[in-house]
Amino acid sequence: MIELSHVKKTYRDRTVLEIDTLTVPQGETLALVGPNGCGKTTLLRILAGRLKSTEGSVKAAAPVLYLPQKPYAFRGTVLHNILLGTHKKRGEALRLLEETDLLHLKDKKAASLSGGELQRMALCRLLVRPCSLLLLDEPTSACDAAGTELLLGVLRRYREATGCTMVLSTHTPAVALNTANRLIILNGGTIEADGGPQTILRAPESDWAKQFIAGWRI
Ligand SMILES: Nc1ncnc2c1ncn2[C@@H]1O[C@H](COP(=O)(O)OP(=O)(O)O)[C@@H](O)[C@H]1O
Ligand SMILES: [Mg+2]
Repeated sequence: MIELSHVKKTYRDRTVLEIDTLTVPQGETLALVGPNGCGKTTLLRILAGRLKSTEGSVKAAAPVLYLPQKPYAFRGTVLHNILLGTHKKRGEALRLLEETDLLHLKDKKAASLSGGELQRMALCRLLVRPCSLLLLDEPTSACDAAGTELLLGVLRRYREATGCTMVLSTHTPAVALNTANRLIILNGGTIEADGGPQTILRAPESDWAKQFIAGWRI
């Protein structure tokens, strides 16, 4: 569950996010899309409690798990990275590594992984724990088509098992359309369109949204 009311984020005198109201019921999967700089990361960081809004009130379900836009590796092996703080979850960690096609890398130094592998490892590190709110900032940006499919399957299963609310940002139309039951298009920090993906595709709420979706070429 998420409830935002009159949320504004300002840097000096520049407003980069302004959302009057946003309510996301528990269990919904919401995709955030929009051009670079439209405020996706800012909104996710506010929801994650990593960034304070300048104005307004933010309520979000806990516990929350957050995947930053730039995934990172801690010292040690891939398996060690996933078990940090949750050593009892070894079986679960191995299952996730298998699901994300990383099992053969479990004893490799995490710092030596490729971009796509690192992104999948960072996701495993989150998903070894249950949560009520899962926030993912461009979770498939470093994945090829096969890797993207793999991750979407893993996310779908996690969501079904936990009943969590999921908010993800993406530049990949297929990711937004295949995972989310709701789509929000951000433009310059404000909500340009908000609704079911198919509804937005069929009848965009504004000319700007129409132009943006036309760029998806689906
Ligand atoms: N620490 C900061 N100081 C000043 N401006 C920032 C800061 N962080 C983000 N911004 C600005 O806020 C806007 C939204 O950024 P961001 O949320 O990262 O967009 P997106 O994730 O959609 O690409 C951008 O114009 C960015 O330059
Ligand atoms: Mg971003």
